[in-house]
Amino acid sequence: MRFDHVWKLFEGNAVVSDLDLKIREGEFLVLVGPSGCGKTTSLRMLAGLERPSHGRIWMGDKDVTDLPTGQRDVSMVFQSYALYPNMSVKKNLAFGPKVRKEPKKDLDRRINEVADLLGIRQLLNRSPSALSGGQRQRVALGRALIREPQVFLMDEPLSNLDAALRVQMRAELIRLHNRLENTTTVYVTHDQVEALTMGDRVAVLKDGVLLQVDSANDLYEYPESVFVGEFIGSPKMNVQPGSLNTSGGVANIECLGVRTTLSPEITGRIEATPSGGSVLVGIRPHDLHLAGESGPESERVQGLIDIVEHTGTEVFATIDVGDAKVIARLPRTPLPVRGQKVELAFNADRVLLFDVESRKSLLRRDSEREKVSIR
Ligand SMILES: Nc1ncnc2c1ncn2[C@@H]1O[C@H](COP(=O)(O)OP(=O)(O)O)[C@@H](O)[C@H]1O
Ligand SMILES: [Mg+2]
Repeated sequence: MRFDHVWKLFEGNAVVSDLDLKIREGEFLVLVGPSGCGKTTSLRMLAGLERPSHGRIWMGDKDVTDLPTGQRDVSMVFQSYALYPNMSVKKNLAFGPKVRKEPKKDLDRRINEVADLLGIRQLLNRSPSALSGGQRQRVALGRALIREPQVFLMDEPLSNLDAALRVQMRAELIRLHNRLENTTTVYVTHDQVEALTMGDRVAVLKDGVLLQVDSANDLYEYPESVFVGEFIGSPKMNVQPGSLNTSGGVANIECLGVRTTLSPEITGRIEATPSGGSVLVGIRPHDLHLAGESGPESERVQGLIDIVEHTGTEVFATIDVGDAKVIARLPRTPLPVRGQKVELAFNADRVLLFDVESRKSLLRRDSEREKVSIR
């Protein structure tokens, strides 16, 4: 399946700009980005509910741009999953096939199969009003599944569920996708955690523009822009102005008042040093920490804790360093407190470097690391 240089304009405004994206057969691809960035519109173009203003949509080697929804082998699950309130779960599942005048012969068998797959067999005779949110969502999925489509399109299907159920359904959807061999899933969400945990690959959209498509691991390790670096990862990556000085194969940076030499590994990945040396330095909260007892004075900086946040397993603190506010991961014991003075240092082999103007990465990918990346 492929978006082939697809544009969508509404009243002259491009809400999807030159989207060129190949979706691999059988993969679970997540489209992620902030609200309004064009995710739903893109998905609707795949579904045939919206026509591209320019460009083509391909499914396999077939140009489906002009095919109506009904003639595409796709099934879509929406954020709001209106079930027919006066019909039992079973009738809700049977509704689509009946409308499409599919043979009745094996409908019962298919309903039972889908119900088993989703664990809702015991609910078939209930009415939707007697179901929990998660059960309703499963029925909505079942209605899409019963078509046995080649392609599953899901538009924020979990956003109406509470947090615990969302986590459970996330895992279930992946299991389902894995069980339905050869089914391709395109899943839309604005939630980066959902994107990272679910996607074989994740496509990041911003203002209708595709910024990067990669595995979750590579998006985190190799963000090609400040936007992707900040969007992926929680808490958000710190971005601070700094200066980079490379000479004789050694790279020194200065950032947050810390002067340090970059590791040979990162130094070897620097694509270009901007003239004047000004850069944006990305430091993940996980890579900003309390300075140890040893180490040179120049590699540490004083800060004052402003806010302490517990995530359950980790403690993050917002810390004032001069005029900058940064987030660092701190040890759980002794528990850091507001107003406490701390000395910080960062991992010189984990920084990200971006161009000040273009906000694009200045680092090449490391081919060795890429080979051992998890996915
Ligand atoms: N039918 C429409 N007419 C005019 N503008 C639209 C229409 N559908 C979507 N838009 C606009 O297109 C942009 C992208 O919308 P959408 O694809 O729904 O974003 P997302 O799903 O990422 O939140 C938004 O600014 C939205 O207001
Ligand atoms: Mg949307």
